[in-house]
Order: sequence, then structure tokens, then C-alpha cells
Amino acid sequence: MDYRLIPLKVFGDERGKLVPIESGQNIPFEIKRVYYIFDTLPEQVRGQHAHRSLEQIVIAMDGACQFVLDDGKTREEVWLNRPDVGLYIGKNMWREMRHFSYGCKLVVLASEHYDEKEYIRNYEDFLKEIHEEYGT
Ligand code: TYD
Repeated sequence: MDYRLIPLKVFGDERGKLVPIESGQNIPFEIKRVYYIFDTLPEQVRGQHAHRSLEQIVIAMDGACQFVLDDGKTREEVWLNRPDVGLYIGKNMWREMRHFSYGCKLVVLASEHYDEKEYIRNYEDFLKEIHEEYGT
């Protein structure tokens, strides 16, 4: 399973807290794109796709949601619920986001510009592609 939780160093004092994010330092790729997700609802599911060539780190800046991560063999659930932890997701990983808390805000750091052609949006196609790629 090509995902992991990355603790982000927090600089905190009586004024509040600060987390720096730097390509190639605490983020293991060059950040080419940043987007954020907000105004989510608990009953809505997002994601439901994989990326052929994209790596991402997702941070729950506020609130919480659950990620379902699937490499075609195993399916695991991870809660994202604090602004000092990033969820790294490698390529060829199916992901779904669900159980959003009200007001949840996710920021996503991506290794590539947006390209709809590198998305796999159908789960059966995802299984077929990864089994062809990894010869399993
Ligand atoms: P979508 O892939 O459905 O979001 P999620 O990550 O929750 O699965 O994206 C929603 C819309 O936004 C879709 O029309 C594509 C567009 N979009 C961009 O134009 N640029 C981007 O960087 C992203 C992530 C999405």
C-alpha cells in the first residue's frame, strides 16, 4: 500500500502554531499544484479515482474525514483529523473520501499539474490497469 501518514513539524508558542511546508524537505516531491476542498457534507463521497502518475499529500486543515485507500489487493481506512499530519498517497492508489465533518477543509499538495487523462475514474479499469502494470 503506497500511502503513509507524515507528521509535520509544528512551531508553536503563546501566539499560536505554524507548520512550514517545503518541497523536497518535509514533502517528498516538487509541489506543482495546490487545491483545497471545503463546504463538504457528511453524506457525500468524493474521490473515487486513482492517478496514473500523480503523488499527493492531503492535510485536514480543519475538521475530519475518512480516506479509503485501495491498491487493488487491500483496502484500508485512515482518518485525517489534524492539521499537523499529512497523508501521502502514491500513484496507482484508489482513494475515496467520506464521513466529512461539517466545515471540514482539506488542502491537497500535488506533484503534477491537473490532467484529466492521468485519472482512472472507473474501479474496474483501475483493477485491470494495475494488474497489467504489476503483472499480478
Ligand atoms: P474531482 O476530481 O471530482 O474532485 P475529488 O478530488 O473530490 O475527486 O474534481 C472536481 C472538479 O474540479 C472536476 O470537474 C475537475 C476539477 N478540477 C480541476 O479543474 N483542477 C484540479 O486541480 C482538480 C483537483 C479538479
